[in-house]
Amino acid sequence: MAELSAELVLVNGRLSPIQERNLVRRLGVNVLDRTTLILDIFAQRARSHEGKLQVELAQLKHLSTRLVRGWTHLERQRGGIGMRGPGETQLETDRRLLANRIRALTARLDKVEQRRAEGRRARERGETPLIALVGYTNAGKSTLFNRLTESAVMARDQLFATLDPTVRRIESLAGSPVLLSDTVGFIRDLPHELVAAFRATLEETLGASLVVHVIDAADPDRARHQAVVEEVLDDIGAADLPLLRVYNKADLTDHAPGLERDEGGEIRAVWVSAATGEGMDALKRALSERVGEGRIHRWIDLGPDHARLRSRLFALGVVQQERIDEEGICHLEVELDRRDARLLTRLGGADGKLVEEVLLN
Ligand code: GTP
Repeated sequence: MAELSAELVLVNGRLSPIQERNLVRRLGVNVLDRTTLILDIFAQRARSHEGKLQVELAQLKHLSTRLVRGWTHLERQRGGIGMRGPGETQLETDRRLLANRIRALTARLDKVEQRRAEGRRARERGETPLIALVGYTNAGKSTLFNRLTESAVMARDQLFATLDPTVRRIESLAGSPVLLSDTVGFIRDLPHELVAAFRATLEETLGASLVVHVIDAADPDRARHQAVVEEVLDDIGAADLPLLRVYNKADLTDHAPGLERDEGGEIRAVWVSAATGEGMDALKRALSERVGEGRIHRWIDLGPDHARLRSRLFALGVVQQERIDEEGICHLEVELDRRDARLLTRLGGADGKLVEEVLLN
């Protein structure tokens, strides 16, 4: 520290409140651990109402674990007569204020999330397929998003430039419009408060017909970062959504931009440079090919014992026409996302089996 004239010590790990306090005492400078630093960056970057609430909540939860004697910063923010209940010590008052604030924030977030879920359902009813961009922080998601939508989302050489999911419509993909969403960047050893905080944001991904995993091809830690992202996807239950890997920043590697197919002709990966625009046509082709793949358009015959499945299909709004024959069998023409069909298998029994055999086969 003396050699570098350091004024701040960053610890790339988690410190207990006692460790942090002892280090501050011994070193005489400010000490930040990984969680506090990431929370700080998130706090600076959050732009939407929801993002700000989530970050503040995570910060308060983090703070509440370090509320030990000698950490009484709250009284300076919120002093005044009547703030302290009878017989309360400063520490108890701080704890109570924190708990109140955490409760209020949680309630507000619940409301915001409810509204978001409604938006998502409305979109699903609208049946416009959603493509979700995910990737390690700084992989180039926002740059790619801008290229694909010709819009100007902030793209910067900094971590977590994107905290709030942004959704835009693209009209130019193979005739039918799709929605594209840009999500928060992933990071290794994300503090668990933050995983919880951004769960809702990441769960947006679950509504996607296709998940596009953007990978920084020039990143020396590429394999490890790629694994982290796929683990998080697994964590939030997105592991069996169709996935397309896009290797970005091809301009910094020797690899030529374009499509990579396996022996069966299936698209395995796409190499692009979002910065120069090379490989974008290949990417657009891949997206329309893969999104189309996620749709099922078929006739299904339902006997009287499949009434539950019939009503679920109508509830999903995926029935295009129905014909009932003289034997009482309903013939339904349905068009739906593979993802929705997969959810229908949860009905179990004969219904689940029929979905499996007729729709998913
Ligand atoms: P987070 O919001 O932190 O998750 O980042 P992001 O994945 O959205 O990355 P962003 O688009 O902000 O890009 C990160 C940096 O990489 C920026 O400096 C971009 O200019 C740069 N970049 C993005 N794509 C390319 C590319 O194809 N080639 C090169 N050389 N740089 C790129």
